[in-house]
Amino acid sequence: MVLNLLNNSLKFTPPGGKIEIRTKSEGRFIGVYVKDAGIGMDPGETKKIFAKFYQVKSLKDEALKKQGWGLGLAIANEIIRLHKGQIGAQSQGPGKGSTFWFKIPIK
Ligand SMILES: Nc1ncnc2c1ncn2[C@@H]1O[C@H](COP(=O)(O)OP(=O)(O)O)[C@@H](O)[C@H]1O
Ligand SMILES: [Mg+2]
Repeated sequence: MVLNLLNNSLKFTPPGGKIEIRTKSEGRFIGVYVKDAGIGMDPGETKKIFAKFYQVKSLKDEALKKQGWGLGLAIANEIIRLHKGQIGAQSQGPGKGSTFWFKIPIK
């Protein structure tokens, strides 16, 4: 899960951009947050990207597009569902970075 989100942040953040990873204890859950200074997305797309094969509309860089199939987050979403957790993404808009997070219950 962590590598999946980190690989995306590395892929969609220009060289030299900052990427932060944080973990937080949140009641019966542990939360993991991956925040980047990358290409971001329209806030209306932060749910769609978890669907199979979806790549954001503002992703114009053909080389970057071809580096993926749009399956990673769909698989991550399924893994989190099986762990009875939650997953999500936030962005203020294209060019404004993104934060991806997931929470899983502590046994
Ligand atoms: N950190 C990120 N910053 C900006 N866009 C992202 C980020 N992570 C994912 N995306 C968008 O969500 C889409 C789906 O991600 P993913 O399922 O991992 O597919 P892939 O990496 O194969 O394109 C990506 O194509 C991209 O448009
Ligand atoms: Mg990916």
